[in-house]
Amino acid sequence: MRILLGITGASGAIYAVRLLNHLYAAGQEVHLIVTHSGRKVLRHECPEDLERITGWARQVYNVDDMEAAPASGSFLFDAMAVVPCSMKTVGCIAHGISDNLLARAADVMIKERRQLLLVPRETPMSAIHLENLLCLSRLGVQILPACPAFYHRPQTLNELADMLAGKIMDALHLENQLFHRWPYKEIS
Ligand SMILES: Cc1cc2nc3c(=O)[nH]c(=O)nc-3n(C[C@H](O)[C@H](O)[C@H](O)COP(=O)(O)O)c2cc1C
Repeated sequence: MRILLGITGASGAIYAVRLLNHLYAAGQEVHLIVTHSGRKVLRHECPEDLERITGWARQVYNVDDMEAAPASGSFLFDAMAVVPCSMKTVGCIAHGISDNLLARAADVMIKERRQLLLVPRETPMSAIHLENLLCLSRLGVQILPACPAFYHRPQTLNELADMLAGKIMDALHLENQLFHRWPYKEIS
């Protein structure tokens, strides 16, 4: 599967790091775009991972390079995920403002009716944020808020983040054992 991963300047860089690591381990072809703010937050939250993640990607694009492949619908991605997704980027995508390569690539995924997943992170959310997310959801964009569950009793930050990485991989229809699933009980 060819997946485009976007990382923006919302808090929660660990979600992107864990997801990219698992996609790489699963042999998926991941292309990466990190916004300028995304780099700053990554440096702040996961300084040791900034170099490592580029090694897990098949291709890394400059967010200002509007001539790069993801700017065109003729370059095929099976899916795009923006993890974590800032409210600024949510707003740009919801309103078709393609002011950088990441927003343009998301715009392309919507117009080509391909799979687009956003992992928004903000709290509290204003009516602007909620309306933008609703607008995108109505267009078929999958919204997976960065709010991991606790019923699997995570012991570490990585275990906490892996729950969300697993949910994203589920949405991409990629097999994973990243979290304990609620057990199935036959009803007799
Ligand atoms: C440490 C830090 C944490 C941030 N966390 C969030 C956040 O959780 N959600 C959000 O929407 N913006 C957050 N921001 C603000 C965004 O980085 C800012 O709006 C930026 O313009 C987003 O640009 P981008 O979407 O192009 O990455 C944070 C900024 C910093 C410096």
